Amino acid sequence: MTINIEYETDIDIKLDYEDIITKVIEGSVDYVGCPYEAEVNVTLTDNASIHEINRDYREVDRPTDVLSFPMIDYVTPGDFDALQDEFDMDPGSYFNPDTGELMLGDIVISVEKVFEQAESYGHSTKRELAFLVAHSMMHLFGYDHMEEDEAKVMEAKQEEVLTMLGITRDDGECARQSIAVSDDLKKRLIKSAKAVMKHAYAPYSGFKVGAAVLAQSGKIYTGCNIENISYGATNCAERTAIFKAVSEGERELLAIAIVSCKGEITYPCGICRQVMSEFMSKDSTVVLDSDSGVKEYTLSELLPHSFDKF
Ligand code: THU
Repeated sequence: MTINIEYETDIDIKLDYEDIITKVIEGSVDYVGCPYEAEVNVTLTDNASIHEINRDYREVDRPTDVLSFPMIDYVTPGDFDALQDEFDMDPGSYFNPDTGELMLGDIVISVEKVFEQAESYGHSTKRELAFLVAHSMMHLFGYDHMEEDEAKVMEAKQEEVLTMLGITRDDGECARQSIAVSDDLKKRLIKSAKAVMKHAYAPYSGFKVGAAVLAQSGKIYTGCNIENISYGATNCAERTAIFKAVSEGERELLAIAIVSCKGEITYPCGICRQVMSEFMSKDSTVVLDSDSGVKEYTLSELLPHSFDKF
Protein backbone atom coordinates (compact mmCIF):
# COMPACT_ATOMS: atom_id res chain seq x y z
CA MET A 1 0.00 0.00 0.00
CA THR A 2 1.22 3.50 -0.75
CA ILE A 3 0.38 6.48 1.45
CA ASN A 4 1.71 9.79 0.15
CA ILE A 5 1.73 12.42 2.88
CA GLU A 6 2.46 16.09 2.12
CA TYR A 7 2.93 18.54 4.99
CA GLU A 8 2.08 21.95 3.55
CA THR A 9 1.87 24.37 6.45
CA ASP A 10 4.33 26.09 8.82
CA ILE A 11 2.13 25.18 11.79
CA ASP A 12 3.74 22.32 13.71
CA ILE A 13 1.24 19.57 14.56
CA LYS A 14 3.63 18.28 17.26
CA LEU A 15 2.64 14.67 16.63
CA ASP A 16 4.16 11.70 14.87
CA TYR A 17 1.52 12.38 12.22
CA GLU A 18 2.98 10.00 9.62
CA ASP A 19 2.68 7.08 12.01
CA ILE A 20 -0.88 7.99 13.08
CA ILE A 21 -2.10 8.57 9.51
CA THR A 22 -0.48 5.36 8.26
CA LYS A 23 -2.00 3.25 11.05
CA VAL A 24 -5.50 4.66 10.55
CA ILE A 25 -5.39 4.28 6.76
CA GLU A 26 -4.03 0.73 6.91
CA GLY A 27 -6.53 -0.14 9.66
CA SER A 28 -9.42 1.25 7.59
CA VAL A 29 -8.35 -0.61 4.44
CA ASP A 30 -8.15 -3.87 6.41
CA TYR A 31 -11.41 -3.14 8.20
CA VAL A 32 -13.44 -2.84 4.99
CA GLY A 33 -11.58 -5.81 3.53
CA CYS A 34 -10.31 -4.00 0.44
CA PRO A 35 -8.96 -6.86 -1.69
CA TYR A 36 -6.41 -4.71 -3.55
CA GLU A 37 -3.16 -3.00 -2.71
CA ALA A 38 -4.23 0.62 -2.48
CA GLU A 39 -2.93 4.17 -2.72
CA VAL A 40 -4.11 7.19 -0.68
CA ASN A 41 -2.81 10.77 -0.81
CA VAL A 42 -2.97 12.94 2.29
CA THR A 43 -2.21 16.65 2.55
CA LEU A 44 -1.92 18.43 5.88
CA THR A 45 -2.50 22.12 5.50
CA ASP A 46 -3.91 25.18 7.30
CA ASN A 47 -7.28 26.94 7.41
CA ALA A 48 -6.45 29.41 4.63
CA SER A 49 -5.51 26.67 2.15
CA ILE A 50 -8.36 24.32 2.97
CA HIS A 51 -10.70 27.30 2.65
CA GLU A 52 -9.45 27.83 -0.91
CA ILE A 53 -9.84 24.16 -1.82
CA ASN A 54 -13.32 24.10 -0.28
CA ARG A 55 -14.30 27.15 -2.34
CA ASP A 56 -12.74 25.93 -5.60
CA TYR A 57 -13.94 22.32 -5.53
CA ARG A 58 -17.15 22.45 -3.48
CA GLU A 59 -18.21 26.08 -3.79
CA VAL A 60 -18.31 26.32 0.01
CA ASP A 61 -16.71 29.60 1.05
CA ARG A 62 -15.24 28.72 4.46
CA PRO A 63 -12.45 26.68 6.01
CA THR A 64 -13.26 23.13 7.12
CA ASP A 65 -11.56 20.35 9.05
CA VAL A 66 -11.27 17.67 6.36
CA LEU A 67 -11.99 17.27 2.65
CA SER A 68 -12.26 13.89 0.98
CA PHE A 69 -11.94 13.22 -2.74
CA PRO A 70 -12.88 9.61 -3.50
CA MET A 71 -11.72 8.25 -6.87
CA ILE A 72 -14.21 5.40 -6.99
CA ASP A 73 -17.93 5.60 -7.58
CA TYR A 74 -19.26 2.71 -5.48
CA VAL A 75 -22.48 0.85 -6.20
CA THR A 76 -22.64 -0.10 -2.51
CA PRO A 77 -20.28 1.58 -0.01
CA GLY A 78 -17.23 -0.54 0.76
CA ASP A 79 -18.19 -3.21 -1.79
CA PHE A 80 -15.35 -3.81 -4.23
CA ASP A 81 -16.80 -7.01 -5.71
CA ALA A 82 -19.63 -5.11 -7.39
CA LEU A 83 -17.03 -2.95 -9.17
CA GLN A 84 -15.08 -5.83 -10.65
CA ASP A 85 -16.55 -5.39 -14.15
CA GLU A 86 -15.83 -1.65 -14.19
CA PHE A 87 -12.29 -2.28 -12.96
CA ASP A 88 -11.76 -4.88 -15.70
CA MET A 89 -13.18 -2.65 -18.44
CA ASP A 90 -11.20 0.46 -17.56
CA PRO A 91 -8.33 -0.38 -15.20
CA GLY A 92 -6.48 2.85 -16.14
CA SER A 93 -9.12 4.94 -14.35
CA TYR A 94 -8.83 3.05 -11.10
CA PHE A 95 -5.35 1.57 -10.85
CA ASN A 96 -2.05 3.43 -10.85
CA PRO A 97 -0.31 2.24 -14.04
CA ASP A 98 3.14 2.38 -12.35
CA THR A 99 2.33 0.47 -9.19
CA GLY A 100 -0.87 -1.42 -10.06
CA GLU A 101 -2.41 -0.10 -6.82
CA LEU A 102 -6.07 0.88 -6.55
CA MET A 103 -6.26 4.69 -6.28
CA LEU A 104 -8.72 5.30 -3.44
CA GLY A 105 -8.46 9.09 -3.47
CA ASP A 106 -7.22 12.17 -1.63
CA ILE A 107 -7.61 13.51 1.90
CA VAL A 108 -6.93 17.12 2.92
CA ILE A 109 -6.81 18.05 6.62
CA SER A 110 -6.41 21.43 8.32
CA VAL A 111 -3.86 21.22 11.14
CA GLU A 112 -5.42 24.33 12.68
CA LYS A 113 -8.80 22.57 12.85
CA VAL A 114 -7.12 19.56 14.48
CA PHE A 115 -5.98 21.85 17.31
CA GLU A 116 -9.29 23.78 17.52
CA GLN A 117 -11.50 20.67 17.55
CA ALA A 118 -9.31 18.67 19.93
CA GLU A 119 -9.63 21.52 22.38
CA SER A 120 -13.37 21.98 22.00
CA TYR A 121 -14.08 18.22 22.26
CA GLY A 122 -11.66 17.89 25.17
CA HIS A 123 -9.58 15.09 23.68
CA SER A 124 -6.03 14.73 22.36
CA THR A 125 -4.81 16.07 19.01
CA LYS A 126 -3.82 12.49 18.20
CA ARG A 127 -7.43 11.37 18.61
CA GLU A 128 -8.69 14.30 16.52
CA LEU A 129 -6.25 13.66 13.67
CA ALA A 130 -7.01 9.92 13.74
CA PHE A 131 -10.75 10.64 13.79
CA LEU A 132 -10.53 12.91 10.73
CA VAL A 133 -8.48 10.36 8.81
CA ALA A 134 -10.88 7.50 9.71
CA HIS A 135 -13.86 9.66 8.75
CA SER A 136 -12.30 10.60 5.44
CA MET A 137 -11.32 6.99 4.69
CA MET A 138 -14.98 6.01 5.02
CA HIS A 139 -15.77 8.65 2.38
CA LEU A 140 -13.07 7.14 0.16
CA PHE A 141 -14.95 3.85 0.55
CA GLY A 142 -18.20 5.47 -0.55
CA TYR A 143 -19.89 6.01 2.84
CA ASP A 144 -21.70 9.29 3.46
CA HIS A 145 -23.60 11.17 6.15
CA MET A 146 -26.25 13.08 4.21
CA GLU A 147 -29.12 10.92 5.54
CA GLU A 148 -29.49 10.03 9.22
CA ASP A 149 -29.39 6.28 8.55
CA GLU A 150 -26.24 6.35 6.45
CA ALA A 151 -24.60 8.74 8.93
CA LYS A 152 -25.17 6.20 11.72
CA VAL A 153 -23.55 3.44 9.66
CA MET A 154 -20.58 5.63 8.75
CA GLU A 155 -20.05 6.86 12.33
CA ALA A 156 -20.16 3.31 13.71
CA LYS A 157 -17.59 2.18 11.17
CA GLN A 158 -15.11 5.00 11.74
CA GLU A 159 -15.44 4.53 15.51
CA GLU A 160 -14.86 0.81 15.20
CA VAL A 161 -11.63 1.40 13.27
CA LEU A 162 -10.42 3.82 15.96
CA THR A 163 -11.40 1.46 18.78
CA MET A 164 -9.57 -1.37 17.06
CA LEU A 165 -6.48 0.81 16.92
CA GLY A 166 -6.89 1.78 20.59
CA ILE A 167 -7.27 5.47 19.74
CA THR A 168 -10.10 6.35 22.07
CA ARG A 169 -11.49 9.70 23.18
CA ASP A 170 -10.21 9.50 26.71
CA ASP A 171 -6.70 8.37 25.93
CA GLY A 172 -4.70 9.50 22.94
CA GLU A 173 -1.93 7.04 23.71
CA CYS A 174 -2.76 3.40 23.26
CA ALA A 175 -2.05 0.95 26.02
CA ARG A 176 -2.86 -2.71 26.46
CA GLN A 177 -6.58 -2.51 27.01
CA SER A 178 -9.65 -4.61 26.61
CA ILE A 179 -11.61 -3.74 23.53
CA ALA A 180 -15.11 -4.85 22.69
CA VAL A 181 -14.71 -6.78 19.46
CA SER A 182 -17.87 -6.45 17.39
CA ASP A 183 -19.92 -9.44 16.23
CA ASP A 184 -18.99 -8.55 12.67
CA LEU A 185 -15.31 -8.87 13.47
CA LYS A 186 -15.85 -12.16 15.30
CA LYS A 187 -17.60 -13.51 12.19
CA ARG A 188 -14.70 -12.34 10.04
CA LEU A 189 -12.23 -14.07 12.36
CA ILE A 190 -14.18 -17.35 12.19
CA LYS A 191 -14.35 -17.08 8.40
CA SER A 192 -10.60 -16.47 8.18
CA ALA A 193 -9.87 -19.38 10.56
CA LYS A 194 -12.03 -21.70 8.45
CA ALA A 195 -10.31 -20.58 5.26
CA VAL A 196 -6.79 -21.19 6.60
CA MET A 197 -7.72 -24.61 8.08
CA LYS A 198 -7.54 -25.95 4.50
CA HIS A 199 -3.77 -25.48 4.63
CA ALA A 200 -3.30 -27.52 7.81
CA TYR A 201 -0.51 -30.08 7.54
CA ALA A 202 -1.85 -32.90 9.69
CA PRO A 203 -0.86 -36.25 8.11
CA TYR A 204 -0.35 -37.90 11.54
CA SER A 205 -3.49 -36.95 13.43
CA GLY A 206 -5.77 -36.05 10.52
CA PHE A 207 -7.05 -33.28 12.83
CA LYS A 208 -7.00 -29.99 10.94
CA VAL A 209 -7.19 -26.76 12.93
CA GLY A 210 -7.45 -23.11 11.81
CA ALA A 211 -6.95 -19.95 13.88
CA ALA A 212 -7.21 -16.22 13.21
CA VAL A 213 -6.05 -13.41 15.48
CA LEU A 214 -7.11 -9.77 15.39
CA ALA A 215 -4.15 -7.50 16.13
CA GLN A 216 -4.20 -4.02 17.61
CA SER A 217 -3.32 -2.60 14.17
CA GLY A 218 -6.65 -3.94 12.89
CA LYS A 219 -4.98 -6.62 10.79
CA ILE A 220 -6.04 -10.25 10.90
CA TYR A 221 -3.37 -12.97 10.88
CA THR A 222 -4.21 -16.62 10.27
CA GLY A 223 -2.51 -19.92 11.03
CA CYS A 224 -2.99 -23.68 10.73
CA ASN A 225 -1.46 -26.61 12.59
CA ILE A 226 1.78 -27.93 11.11
CA GLU A 227 2.67 -31.43 12.25
CA ASN A 228 6.00 -33.17 12.26
CA ILE A 229 7.10 -36.78 12.03
CA SER A 230 8.76 -36.33 15.42
CA TYR A 231 5.28 -35.36 16.77
CA GLY A 232 6.89 -33.10 19.38
CA ALA A 233 7.92 -30.51 16.77
CA THR A 234 4.26 -29.94 15.84
CA ASN A 235 3.02 -26.36 15.92
CA CYS A 236 -0.63 -25.67 16.74
CA ALA A 237 -2.77 -23.40 14.58
CA GLU A 238 -3.07 -20.79 17.34
CA ARG A 239 0.67 -20.42 17.74
CA THR A 240 1.20 -20.30 13.97
CA ALA A 241 -1.24 -17.36 13.76
CA ILE A 242 0.21 -15.60 16.82
CA PHE A 243 3.80 -16.04 15.68
CA LYS A 244 2.95 -14.74 12.22
CA ALA A 245 1.44 -11.60 13.80
CA VAL A 246 4.32 -11.05 16.21
CA SER A 247 6.92 -11.55 13.50
CA GLU A 248 5.20 -8.83 11.45
CA GLY A 249 5.70 -6.39 14.32
CA GLU A 250 2.42 -6.83 16.24
CA ARG A 251 2.59 -6.93 20.03
CA GLU A 252 -1.05 -6.61 21.12
CA LEU A 253 -3.64 -9.15 20.03
CA LEU A 254 -7.29 -8.42 20.77
CA ALA A 255 -9.08 -11.63 19.86
CA ILE A 256 -8.58 -15.12 18.45
CA ALA A 257 -10.96 -17.51 16.68
CA ILE A 258 -10.31 -21.27 16.56
CA VAL A 259 -12.00 -23.90 14.37
CA SER A 260 -11.31 -27.55 13.60
CA CYS A 261 -12.25 -30.00 10.86
CA LYS A 262 -14.35 -32.10 13.27
CA GLY A 263 -16.90 -29.31 13.54
CA GLU A 264 -16.73 -29.52 17.34
CA ILE A 265 -15.56 -26.87 19.80
CA THR A 266 -11.76 -27.08 19.92
CA TYR A 267 -10.23 -25.69 23.09
CA PRO A 268 -6.68 -24.38 22.75
CA CYS A 269 -3.97 -26.52 24.34
CA GLY A 270 -2.10 -25.36 27.43
CA ILE A 271 1.00 -24.23 25.55
CA CYS A 272 -1.12 -22.08 23.22
CA ARG A 273 -2.99 -20.55 26.18
CA GLN A 274 0.34 -19.60 27.73
CA VAL A 275 1.54 -18.09 24.43
CA MET A 276 -1.76 -16.18 24.09
CA SER A 277 -1.28 -14.69 27.55
CA GLU A 278 2.00 -13.17 26.39
CA PHE A 279 0.31 -11.02 23.74
CA MET A 280 -3.35 -10.86 24.81
CA SER A 281 -4.89 -9.17 27.84
CA LYS A 282 -6.80 -11.20 30.45
CA ASP A 283 -10.18 -10.03 29.11
CA SER A 284 -9.39 -10.41 25.42
CA THR A 285 -11.78 -12.58 23.44
CA VAL A 286 -11.39 -16.24 22.48
CA VAL A 287 -14.04 -17.37 19.98
CA LEU A 288 -14.53 -21.11 19.43
CA ASP A 289 -16.69 -22.12 16.50
CA SER A 290 -18.44 -25.46 15.90
CA ASP A 291 -21.23 -26.86 13.73
CA SER A 292 -23.60 -26.43 16.67
CA GLY A 293 -22.70 -22.84 17.47
CA VAL A 294 -20.08 -20.50 18.85
CA LYS A 295 -18.65 -20.37 22.39
CA GLU A 296 -16.88 -17.35 23.67
CA TYR A 297 -14.46 -16.97 26.58
CA THR A 298 -12.10 -14.38 27.95
CA LEU A 299 -8.49 -15.50 28.11
CA SER A 300 -8.55 -15.48 31.94
CA GLU A 301 -11.48 -17.90 31.89
CA LEU A 302 -9.36 -20.32 29.87
CA LEU A 303 -6.14 -19.63 31.77
CA PRO A 304 -6.97 -18.56 35.33
CA HIS A 305 -4.17 -17.74 37.78
CA SER A 306 -1.71 -17.49 34.92
CA PHE A 307 2.00 -16.99 35.51
CA ASP A 308 2.46 -13.26 35.21
CA LYS A 309 5.37 -11.10 36.31
CA PHE A 310 8.59 -12.30 37.82
N1 THU B 1 -3.93 -28.68 17.62
C1 THU B 1 -4.02 -27.36 17.32
O1 THU B 1 -3.60 -26.92 16.24
N2 THU B 1 -4.56 -26.52 18.25
C2 THU B 1 -5.07 -26.92 19.45
O2 THU B 1 -5.48 -26.09 20.22
C3 THU B 1 -5.08 -28.34 19.81
C4 THU B 1 -4.36 -29.25 18.89
C5 THU B 1 -3.36 -29.59 16.62
C6 THU B 1 -2.01 -30.08 16.96
C7 THU B 1 -1.97 -31.39 16.20
O3 THU B 1 -1.53 -31.12 14.88
C8 THU B 1 -3.39 -31.84 16.13
O4 THU B 1 -4.18 -30.73 16.50
C9 THU B 1 -3.71 -33.02 17.03
O5 THU B 1 -3.31 -32.80 18.33
